[in-house]
Amino acid sequence: MRKTNQTIMKKIYTILIILTLSVLSIKAQDVQPINNWKFHVGDDMQWKTPAFNDNAWQQIRVDIPWDDQGYKKNEGYGWYRAKVVIPSSLKNKAYLKDSIKIYIGKVDECDQTYLNGKLIGQNAGIVTANFEDPNYAWTYERCYCVAVNDPAINWDKENVIAIRVYNGYGIGGMYQAKPEISMRELIDYVKIYTDETSFKQKENNSYANSVEIVNKYAASKITGKLLVQVKSNEKQKVLWEKQLDVTMLPLEHYKATIDFPNVENSYIVYTFTESITKKTIKTLLEIPYILTPKAAKTPRINGAKVFGVRPNHPFLYIIAATGERPLTYAAEGLPKGLTLDKTTGMISGSIPAKGTFKIKLSVENSLGKNTRDFKIECGDLICLTPPLGWNSWNCWGLSVSTDKVKASADAMVSSGLINHGWTYMNIDDGWELVHKDDSITCNEKFPNMKSLADYVHSKGLKLGIYSSPGPKTCGGYEGSFNYEQADANNYAAWGIDYLKYDWCSYETVACNDTDRLFKPYRKMQTALSKVNRDIVYSLCQYGMGDVWKWGATVNGNTWRTTGDITDTWGSLSEIGFNQDKCAPYSQPGHWNDPDMLVVGKVGWGPSLHNTHLTPSEQYTHISLWALLSAPLLIGCDLSQLDDFTLNLLTNDEVIDIDQDPLGKGATRVVKNTDYQVWVKQLEDGSIAVGIFNLSNDVKKITVNWNELNIKGTKTFRDVWRQKDLGKYKDLFTATVSSHGVMLARVY
Ligand code: GAL
Repeated sequence: MRKTNQTIMKKIYTILIILTLSVLSIKAQDVQPINNWKFHVGDDMQWKTPAFNDNAWQQIRVDIPWDDQGYKKNEGYGWYRAKVVIPSSLKNKAYLKDSIKIYIGKVDECDQTYLNGKLIGQNAGIVTANFEDPNYAWTYERCYCVAVNDPAINWDKENVIAIRVYNGYGIGGMYQAKPEISMRELIDYVKIYTDETSFKQKENNSYANSVEIVNKYAASKITGKLLVQVKSNEKQKVLWEKQLDVTMLPLEHYKATIDFPNVENSYIVYTFTESITKKTIKTLLEIPYILTPKAAKTPRINGAKVFGVRPNHPFLYIIAATGERPLTYAAEGLPKGLTLDKTTGMISGSIPAKGTFKIKLSVENSLGKNTRDFKIECGDLICLTPPLGWNSWNCWGLSVSTDKVKASADAMVSSGLINHGWTYMNIDDGWELVHKDDSITCNEKFPNMKSLADYVHSKGLKLGIYSSPGPKTCGGYEGSFNYEQADANNYAAWGIDYLKYDWCSYETVACNDTDRLFKPYRKMQTALSKVNRDIVYSLCQYGMGDVWKWGATVNGNTWRTTGDITDTWGSLSEIGFNQDKCAPYSQPGHWNDPDMLVVGKVGWGPSLHNTHLTPSEQYTHISLWALLSAPLLIGCDLSQLDDFTLNLLTNDEVIDIDQDPLGKGATRVVKNTDYQVWVKQLEDGSIAVGIFNLSNDVKKITVNWNELNIKGTKTFRDVWRQKDLGKYKDLFTATVSSHGVMLARVY
C-alpha cells in the first residue's frame, strides 16, 4: 500500500515536473530576454561589428540612464552591446512566422540599432555637429523588426546587438528598458487609440469615453474581444466592466463610445485580446478628477499680495477677486498718482517717487465683503512675485496671430482666470518681419501691435513679446542683434510689458571670451533700463552657464533653467524634479523658470491636441511649479478650456503657494526611485509640502518630521481640496496616485 502510494506520488511529481518544464520551455520559446549589457563612452563605428572584442567594456544596467551609473553628464555618444542566442524555437509557437521583434525600451535621446553589424532601426537619426531637436524621441519605446529570412539573424547561435546612442542634453542612455526578442504577431498590428479629454461628463453624472482600435495588417482581418474596465485607483478593484466583440477588416478600424458610471478616483482599462493567439494589448486612461471646490459667491481677493513698479512708469494692476458680480472695489492708502476704478478693480496711473505703500484692498457684493493687505513697492525692482499668465508658444508655435492672442485674452476674462491673478498675455516667436529705418516691423499677422496692446490693457491684462539677441530668432524670424535700443524703444512705445529674450542664433555672433553668455543679456538690460516703462525681462538660454547663478546680475526677472518642455511625463518629470540646484537663487524679482505649462490643448503649431499628461501628472505639474516659485505661463488655447483644465488653474490656495511674497524655491528633502518630497518655506512661517509619487502604482507614502524639519503637532491642509486633514505628530501618511501628488500646507 505504502509502496503503491509512493509510486503514485512519484508519478504525480514526474508529471508535475514535466508540466512545469514544458510551461517554462513554452515561455522560453515565446520571448528571449537580452541580458548582460556592456557600455563604452565615445563613438567608433567598429563597435557595431560582431567581431569587435568588448571584453574591456563595463557592465551597465539598461533600466536606468548612464548618468546614474558613473557617466554623469555624458553629453555625446555612448555604445551599448549585448550577446544573445536567438532560438529558432521562437518560430514554432508563432502564428505569423514572418519576422522577429527586437525590443530595446527607451533611449535618451537618439539611437541606431545594429544586429550583427546590420542597421535594423533608428530613432530621430543620429545627429552630430548640427544637433537639433530630435522630436523628443527620447520618450519613445523602440522596437525593431527583422524578417526571419534576413541573413543578419544567426538562428540558434550568438548574435551581437549594438546600439549607438547620442545624447545632446541632460540625462542620457537606455532607460526603462527590458530588452527582449520575440516573434511579430497579429497583435503587433493592432493599435488602441484613446483620448484623455474625450471623457464627457453626462448629466446623470456618468461618463462617456471614445475608443478606436485599428487593424494595421494589410494581409488579414483581425478579430478579438475588447474588455473595458473601470478600476479604482486605490485598490485597483474592478468597479465596472463590459466586453465587446471586435472584427476589423484589413486596415480598417473599430470605434465605440463607452458609457460608464462616474466612479471617483478611478481609471479605465481597455484590453484587446486577439482571438487566434490570445495575445493582448492594454491601454490605461485616468479619469479626470476635479479637486478644487467651486469659488464661493461671497467675495474673495486673490492673486499677488505685493506688486513692484518703478517711479514715473505706467502702473496697471487689476484686483483679482472671485464672488458673484457686480463687485465694488475699494483701496485704502493708494499713493498719489494712482486711481482705482471702483467697478472694475483696475488701479492705474504712475507713482512719482520711490516708497513702500501699504494698501487695504476690499471687495464687496450683496452677499458680503472681503479685505486684504496689499503692498506696492515703488523702486528699482519689479516682478516681485512670479509672473502669472499665458504664452502662445506651446499651443500656436509660429502660427500665432493677433486674432489668436485676442481670443485668448477674451477667454482669460470670460473664463474667470483673471479673477485668480492671471495677467500676462505673451506673444512668443512668429510676429516679427524686418528692421526698417531702425524700427522692427511686424508681419501681416500683427498689423497693429499698439492697438493689440491697448486692447489687452483695456481688460486689465498685460502684453508680452519675444525676441532674440541674435540676428534671427529660433523660428528664423528677425532678431534684435545690433538693434537692441531701437527694439526696446519700440516695445515701450507699443505698450509691451514683458520681453522673452531667446538666445537662438546668437551663437553665430557670440565672441569667444568668458563674457559670451552675459554680454547679449547685459546689452538688452541696458536698453530696457532706458525706456520709461516696466518691462519684465525674461532670459531664455536653456540654463547655459548655470544662469540661475548670474541671471539677477543682468536684471533678469526670470530665466529658463532648462531646454524646452513637452507634454509627456518624461519631459515634465525630468525638468521638474531637477530644479533643486536652482532653488537658492529664487527671490522676489528673480525667478527660476522651468518652462511653460503643458496643460489643456497644446500643439506647437496650427493644430492642437489634448495634453498627453494624465490628470494626476497635471496636478503634479502645477503643484511642483507652484512649489518652485516658477512663472506660471499657461501654454494652451484659452478659448478652448475644458472644465478640468480650468479647475486646475483656478485653485487660489495653490496659486498662493506660487505667489508667496517670500519668494523661496522649494527644495527636495526626500529622493528615492518611487517618490520624492519637496518643501517650500512660506512667508507666514508655514511650509508647503509636495509628496510626489513617481512610481507606476498607487502608493501610501509616509513622511516624518525629521525629513520635513518640523517639530510638535501640525495641521495638514490638503491644498487641492482646500480642506484640513487633521492634526499630526511625528508622521504623516498620504495615499498618492501614480505620478500624482499630495500638496499640503503645514502649520
Ligand atoms: C525656443 C524656446 C521656446 C520658444 C521657441 C520659439 O528656443 O525655448 O520656448 O520660444 O524657441 O522659436
